Amino acid sequence: MIRIWGICLLLASVQALPTKHLNHNATVEQEQEQEELEEETSHWNGDINLQHIQRIESYMQPEQDACHDFHAYACGNWKSVHGNVSAMSLSGSHIDQRYVQLFERLLREPQAPEHRLPMFPKLLRYYQSCLALDKPRLRHYLDHLPPRSTDHWMELLAILGRYGHHEHYIRITVAHHNASRHIIFMQAHVHELKMTLTPNIYFALRRHLDGDLPSLADLRQQFKQLDATLHRLSQSESINSDEENFKTYTLDQLQRELPGLNWTHALQLKFNATYDGQHQVQVDELPQLRQLINFLNQADARLLRLYSLSRFLQYLLQLPHNPLNNLVNNKAPSSVECVQHMRKTLYLGMNYAYEHIYYAKQRATDERIIFRVFEELKAQFSKQLQQNEFSLDANLLSALQQKVSGMAINIGNMPHNASEQFFRDREQLWQATGDFYLNHFKSLLEYNAHQAEMERTTNTTLKQLFYSFSYHGPSMQDNIDATPYFYCVSNIIIMPYAYVQLPFYHAQFWPALLYGDLGNTLGHEMLHTLDSFFVDFDAQGVQRDYGDQLRRYRQYVAGIECLNSTANITLNERTADFSGTRLALHTYLQTPMQRRQHGRLYFLQFAQFFCGQEADESHDEGSVRLNYTLSQMPEFAEVFNCTQGTPMNPVERCQFW
Ligand SMILES: *[C@@H]1O[C@H](CO)[C@@H](O)[C@H](O)[C@H]1NC(C)=O
Ligand SMILES: *[C@@H]1O[C@H](CO)[C@@H](O)[C@H](O)[C@H]1NC(C)=O
Ligand SMILES: *[C@@H]1O[C@H](CO)[C@@H](O)[C@H](O)[C@H]1NC(C)=O
Ligand SMILES: *[C@@H]1O[C@H](CO)[C@@H](O)[C@H](O)[C@H]1NC(C)=O
Ligand SMILES: *[C@@H]1O[C@H](CO)[C@@H](O)[C@H](O)[C@H]1NC(C)=O
Ligand SMILES: *[C@@H]1O[C@H](CO)[C@@H](O)[C@H](O)[C@H]1NC(C)=O
Ligand SMILES: *[C@@H]1O[C@H](CO)[C@@H](O)[C@H](O)[C@H]1NC(C)=O
Ligand SMILES: *[C@@H]1O[C@H](CO)[C@@H](O)[C@H](O)[C@H]1NC(C)=O
Ligand SMILES: *[C@@H]1O[C@H](CO)[C@@H](O)[C@H](O)[C@H]1NC(C)=O
Ligand SMILES: *[C@@H]1O[C@H](CO)[C@@H](O)[C@H](O)[C@H]1NC(C)=O
Ligand SMILES: *[C@@H]1O[C@H](CO)[C@@H](O)[C@H](O)[C@H]1NC(C)=O
Ligand SMILES: [Zn+2]
Repeated sequence: MIRIWGICLLLASVQALPTKHLNHNATVEQEQEQEELEEETSHWNGDINLQHIQRIESYMQPEQDACHDFHAYACGNWKSVHGNVSAMSLSGSHIDQRYVQLFERLLREPQAPEHRLPMFPKLLRYYQSCLALDKPRLRHYLDHLPPRSTDHWMELLAILGRYGHHEHYIRITVAHHNASRHIIFMQAHVHELKMTLTPNIYFALRRHLDGDLPSLADLRQQFKQLDATLHRLSQSESINSDEENFKTYTLDQLQRELPGLNWTHALQLKFNATYDGQHQVQVDELPQLRQLINFLNQADARLLRLYSLSRFLQYLLQLPHNPLNNLVNNKAPSSVECVQHMRKTLYLGMNYAYEHIYYAKQRATDERIIFRVFEELKAQFSKQLQQNEFSLDANLLSALQQKVSGMAINIGNMPHNASEQFFRDREQLWQATGDFYLNHFKSLLEYNAHQAEMERTTNTTLKQLFYSFSYHGPSMQDNIDATPYFYCVSNIIIMPYAYVQLPFYHAQFWPALLYGDLGNTLGHEMLHTLDSFFVDFDAQGVQRDYGDQLRRYRQYVAGIECLNSTANITLNERTADFSGTRLALHTYLQTPMQRRQHGRLYFLQFAQFFCGQEADESHDEGSVRLNYTLSQMPEFAEVFNCTQGTPMNPVERCQFW
């Protein structure tokens, strides 16, 4: 059945294809090679490939000169089809849509078997509580806080910290430290973030406190002064010494250095556990902490309390996708908005649901293909490192080899080998009711209690599970969920569900399409381990001086300086682009020979990720990245027959990993 349907579609597509740009004669060979790669797929699925090629062609402007501006040639029509939206964000929206379909179906089908699985019933209640919102009632958050028992600024701060709020006065967080450790970390007030007392926040506070409050204007003024004082006290004395001021203290030492607070008590309140005097914490800029504590201990306790509660509400509203921000004209949030919110705040449960419903059936095949490409890239890079182009000394070379060989990959960012019982246990740790505010709180409490537990636990099963992926917190930005990234503390490439679908990937892609994106994406993320920034983390995520060591080698420095050519680049992204693309290309071209003939398709598929991509904090615009990177690859010029001296075939190229 599938086979016949496949052939029909195949024939239809072939006729429709404008064959002048791509060597379609190649398809037969591609199919043969793909069958070798994927013997277990009994039916070949040429239609997937041809449809995808058609799609690629619809984005092209073949009248453009590929040797002059490849982005214009490959992506020239993208905007007229998709506007400003990148392939990556289209992919992310597709995942959101699938969650909406799932929840809507389960609401219609109360007998569906999913209702008996872990997580699903609570996710559904949460979803309903979100859809039921009409207007923002911030006061409900405050009313759900534990009853007030004290006026001490640190005690309230510790309580608010349980919900993940720790931006003001003194910042006490739990951070992922290296491949097997979390650590408690203390810093002064984050002075870049100011308090903006909006009328919404003010009136929520006033109702919560039964009206007992200065006027909005007065309170704003008082907050402004407090902000300024905190800013002054938390400012670093030395301007550019971010890194050198971290120190490790035992709690006993900290108590001696900063006697103005009872640290055991503060940590107990915040993390709901008792820490002994030998427990270690990392502290940044102790003198500033001392000044802040001295000031806060004698400041107006009531003002400090109002400021804390206001900052807390501000924090909650600024969490990505808090649906309260979208409630205009008392209109309920959309299903997509609720799903986006839940993907932030119920990360593990939402991934569990996606895996179960959508991804599980595709996982085994994907892992076989993706892991194989990953191993090929590793082997290729290992071979390249052994050639030792920079003449590095043996110890350094071996440390870098270990980073590459020790690198892991996680598709879907799920804990490895977690049982259903594991998810049942996790589920017991949070509740879902009909009240959105309470639900939101419970999810925040659960995540933050978990982080604290990771810092204390000696349970090796728990550690193995939680160090096998990257547990995203509620503040994580969206793009992290839509595109693969390199997680340096754990030396893992995280590949989100949004990536393992068209247009980036399909299990039945021919090699040119498969390597054109997957190979390049994995190559890019893999080479982040040796980029100009992450190179300093060893295979266990511990910071070393590899960057300093490398800078003693003339050729390495020349390579970095060559790539650091334009003012507005983030150097570590550029080095990952350069080396990753080079690695993917060499891996792709290894065997068999006919792959080179499909080079045009390979490069066009590579371009898809960059079509419509705008610049962000760490990346140049897609057009700049694509053109720059490919102009650095002699193979590109060869495949597109670019005359030397054209923009895409410069006379001089950089030499790097
Ligand atoms: C297409 O492939 C056939 C058989 O492999 C070959 O005879 C023919 O020359 C090819 N055509 C082109 C344009 O490459
Ligand atoms: C590539 O794209 C950028 C941005 O559109 C453009 O400035 C440049 O001329 C193009 N060509 C090359 C070789 O960089
Ligand atoms: C597209 O991008 C341009 C410039 O970056 C911007 O002015 C415009 O508002 C964007 N359009 C959409 C629909 O996002
Ligand atoms: C992780 O960090 C802790 C605390 O600094 C350290 O004791 C441990 O050795 C580190 N792990 C590795 C593998 O180096
Ligand atoms: C600090 O707090 C802990 C826990 O609440 C308490 O046991 C201890 O007596 C306190 N220490 C001082 C010096 O108050
Ligand atoms: C604190 O931990 C205890 C067990 O150690 C637990 O029973 C209790 O619910 C926790 N309290 C909070 C507020 O999380
Ligand atoms: C998961 O289980 C498989 C087979 O039981 C094992 O080979 C693998 O190492 C496990 N992975 C992790 C991260 O524990
Ligand atoms: C360790 O963690 C695992 C996974 O959460 C759990 O099943 C097990 O009961 C824990 N072991 C102990 C001794 O607490
Ligand atoms: C890269 O160039 C910028 C200015 O163009 C310079 O400030 C920076 O130090 C350079 N980085 C390296 C590693 O050479
Ligand atoms: C330079 O980078 C900033 C962000 O870091 C971006 O807003 C700006 O558009 C970039 N300029 C160019 C010419 O790419
Ligand atoms: C490549 O370009 C050169 C010069 O522009 C031209 O003479 C030659 O025929 C081209 N080769 C192919 C295979 O297109
Ligand atoms: Zn990157």
